Amino acid sequence: MDSALRSLLDWYAQMGVDVPNVPAARPVRVKKRPLVKAASPLAASSPAAEKPSVVAPELSKIRTLDALKDVMNNYDAGALSDAARQVVFARGNPEANLMVIGEAPGREEDIQGKPFIGPSGQLLDRMLGAIALGEDDFYATNIVNWRLPKDRNPTPQDVALCRPFLEKHIELVQPKVILLVGGASMSALTGVTGIMKNHGQWQDVTISGTTYPAMPLYHPAFLIRRPELKKDAWRDLLTLREKLLTL
Ligand code: URA
Repeated sequence: MDSALRSLLDWYAQMGVDVPNVPAARPVRVKKRPLVKAASPLAASSPAAEKPSVVAPELSKIRTLDALKDVMNNYDAGALSDAARQVVFARGNPEANLMVIGEAPGREEDIQGKPFIGPSGQLLDRMLGAIALGEDDFYATNIVNWRLPKDRNPTPQDVALCRPFLEKHIELVQPKVILLVGGASMSALTGVTGIMKNHGQWQDVTISGTTYPAMPLYHPAFLIRRPELKKDAWRDLLTLREKLLTL
């Protein structure tokens, strides 16, 4: 048995599931959107509200994910970009129905420039794999795009600084469903606090006039510390899967 299958079966066992018999999710929706760079570089303009020394870029003219990534790669986020190796933008399939939004990159993500590839990302992959979602079935990013010094929790200032990028990111991807991974992600996008009582409860996330259904899920790093909560996470994942199957 290969190690991926073994780890999936381990996950089922920890969930209390005896027979891993989850039918495949529907194929991903095919959307046609250009992923090419914007022709002209965008000028930085208005000052950011939270950090006067950091200048917020003009994002309204951005039409593609590549252009957004470009702007972020060239953006001086002050202490955030000074401390990190690089911007951690996204991974997965931008055409997928599901957008996964986590908190902030860790060490591995900072090195490789991709979200959710360290230990909690590996657990997240197994959790999504348990409802038959592979990397092609979701698109992942974070509310904060730079690794934070000493992996501290994001402050409201960190979240506010990255928020215009996140909003633009969601606007460009236009997911059918959002998975809010962890309490910080949930409260940043919904204003709702308390992941213990709100996990698995559908919320609305409204960006630029569009409302997306969003499911808060325990953060995998939290589940690593509190494995007894995996049963609840499994229930939430099944609710998510039901929703995806209706699309
Ligand atoms: N890695 C990420 O990219 N995001 C998280 O929230 C945790 C780990």
